Amino acid sequence: MSILDAKFVQGFIRMCNDGWEQGWHERNGGNFSYRMKPEEVEEVKEYLASESEWKPIGTSVPKLAGEYFMVTGSGKYFRNVILDPEDSICIIEVDEKGENYRICWGLVNGGRPTSELPSHLMNHEVKMLASGGKHRVIYHAHPANIIALTFVLPLKDEVFTRELWEMMTECPIVFASGIGVVDWMVPGGRDIAVATSELMKQYDVAIWAHHGMFCSGEDFDLTFGLMHTVEKAAEILVKMLSMRPDKLQTITAQNFRDLAVEFNVELPEKFLYEK
Ligand code: 13P
Ligand code: ZN
Repeated sequence: MSILDAKFVQGFIRMCNDGWEQGWHERNGGNFSYRMKPEEVEEVKEYLASESEWKPIGTSVPKLAGEYFMVTGSGKYFRNVILDPEDSICIIEVDEKGENYRICWGLVNGGRPTSELPSHLMNHEVKMLASGGKHRVIYHAHPANIIALTFVLPLKDEVFTRELWEMMTECPIVFASGIGVVDWMVPGGRDIAVATSELMKQYDVAIWAHHGMFCSGEDFDLTFGLMHTVEKAAEILVKMLSMRPDKLQTITAQNFRDLAVEFNVELPEKFLYEK
């Protein structure tokens, strides 16, 4: 038995590779974190060290005190995770104040967790509280079509949500609460983490203009599937806009209301405006 045999580690590595194969992770683009379950911490305890020094997270996440996360390393390439996980990813522990972290496993050749750790942990804190502890996965990627749309659509939650819902009938079922949009901001710090986690109070998806996307979910499948669905809808919208600037026909606001009844989802009226 090695730590790499643990099911959650296998799932984490597989998702990194799936994202790479989708073309969402040029160079070191994107990052990924998973809040471990207590039984998973127990399962791999013999591999976890507690000698490394505490370092500041760069923000405060008091509700995550004592939690353990598996996280990709800063500057590490998603395409290498499957070949050399110990070099590319790590497990970190958050201190009792929620202000510092230490590396307990991984990054054997040095390095630190992703530069977006403040955004990951602030999103985890918000989503853990909003979901009653169910959400465990935060995933940041650089998918080309969603980024392309941030140059041509108004940077408004309502517009991105509605335009992407219209691209595939199942979109409003997959991301019923909608999509938030963050204007261009400097990445890697506390300010963008605050703005993103504020949107995550309402949504499971946040777009960073001219940069990429964050998704939150309960497990690897749901979170990867969410990123995949939003990006596929974006691809269809890019294709559609490339053919002609307007639509001959589409899914209407009333169609969405009918769908909501049939599929038992709540679709906020703010997205069903008349055009
Ligand atoms: P890291 O390599 O530090 O994770 O940064 C990549 C990225 O996508 C920043 O937004
Ligand atoms: Zn990024």
